[in-house]
Amino acid sequence: MDKKNILKGKHIVLGITAGLAASKCPELARMLEALGAEVRAVMTPNSEKLVTSGQMQAVTHFPVEDNIFDRSTPGSIGHIALGKWADIILIAPATADFLARLASGMGDDLLTCVCLATPSQIAVAPSMHFQMYGAPATQENLLTLKKRNILIWGPEKGRLGSGDIGIGRMLEPGELVKNVENYFNSISELNPFHILITAGPTQEAIDPVRYISNRSSGKMGFALAAAARSKGAKVTLISGPVTLETPVGVKRIDVVTALEMHEAVHKIIETDNDVNVFISCAAVSDFRPEHVSTQKIKKSEGVETSSSSVPSQTSEVIADDIMTLRLVKNPDIVKSVASLTTRRPFVVGFAAETERVEEYARIKLEKKKLDLICANDVSKKELTFGSDENEITMIWNDGIKKIEKCSKSEVASQIIDHILTFSQKTKSKEG
Ligand code: C5P
Repeated sequence: MDKKNILKGKHIVLGITAGLAASKCPELARMLEALGAEVRAVMTPNSEKLVTSGQMQAVTHFPVEDNIFDRSTPGSIGHIALGKWADIILIAPATADFLARLASGMGDDLLTCVCLATPSQIAVAPSMHFQMYGAPATQENLLTLKKRNILIWGPEKGRLGSGDIGIGRMLEPGELVKNVENYFNSISELNPFHILITAGPTQEAIDPVRYISNRSSGKMGFALAAAARSKGAKVTLISGPVTLETPVGVKRIDVVTALEMHEAVHKIIETDNDVNVFISCAAVSDFRPEHVSTQKIKKSEGVETSSSSVPSQTSEVIADDIMTLRLVKNPDIVKSVASLTTRRPFVVGFAAETERVEEYARIKLEKKKLDLICANDVSKKELTFGSDENEITMIWNDGIKKIEKCSKSEVASQIIDHILTFSQKTKSKEG
């Protein structure tokens, strides 16, 4: 794909809300059209006080969509069709009010309905006074949108409509156009990459009501799946039991045990035959009970077991207050994928360490024959299981790169970018 023409033929819905920066929308639309994109403007009623629909129609050559009920305008295509038509929806400027309505899933005007109805990427360019931008409600709304994989472009620091200086200025049209180009470039680079990711914990049953597991929330693996998908990859996510929503566009397979995860991973690699990258982010239980008791194990089993209960082969009460559980090792899934001789993808592992993080991660990288390992220091209280932030050191044979503490979605985006560049370099060296 010629990067210069990346916008040629792209369908862009330009959502305009009532920020002062709306006056820059004709220029923004003109620049996108000049690069070959087709732009349809969708305006909120109040935005028409800042830029006219006549101006937008003149630069886009299409009627402006501004009313969910009025279907009489010739050429008007309605919210469902617009959502489908869009390759990207860019809302610029996006006011605090619009961000709040988008974050809460409202569909009270045409633009929010188009956003709800689209399977495509949404990007917002916030524009407001710095106090409104810094307000906890706005920041929480932005966080919610980020978690939903909506791209947040800007705002930047500068002189605001009120004359104050602060963060709240919408990015200039030229910057927004660059961001749109970068977005399409990144998805065309990854396409048709198939990234297989494992996430979450596994649960290893002891009996019908008890299991062995760990504190993994799955957030990092899900963030990786969302980031890979937003960059255009085909993503399959094999997840242990978690309470997270599947990122849009990601194929999810739920498993419970390590054995099920092992089987699911190899089945996808075998049958899909197109997996380029395997990211093993799951916290797989290293051991499982040797036998799963079919009945609930009694506290006193082995001592006072009644003849009617089925004795467990897994546990043994060896004294009044001591019970042993016999555990067997689970397969090491990431190691088994790294040692494949056919269809071996680029293999990425994770290492949660509490001390000598780099040294221990490097040992794992070599022992498991991985291409890359992402190490994190789980001794840091604020970055332990369930947190929304992470700090990762990526380590490979002859290199190391640190990702400083930031949100898991930002960490995920940087990991995917690195994998993309690095796996392609490795491939071209081999080839
Ligand atoms: O050896 P350790 O469990 O620390 O290694 C962590 C890495 O190995 C992670 O990528 C994890 O997903 C993977 N792993 C695995 N199967 C196991 C244990 C760990 O794939 N049984």
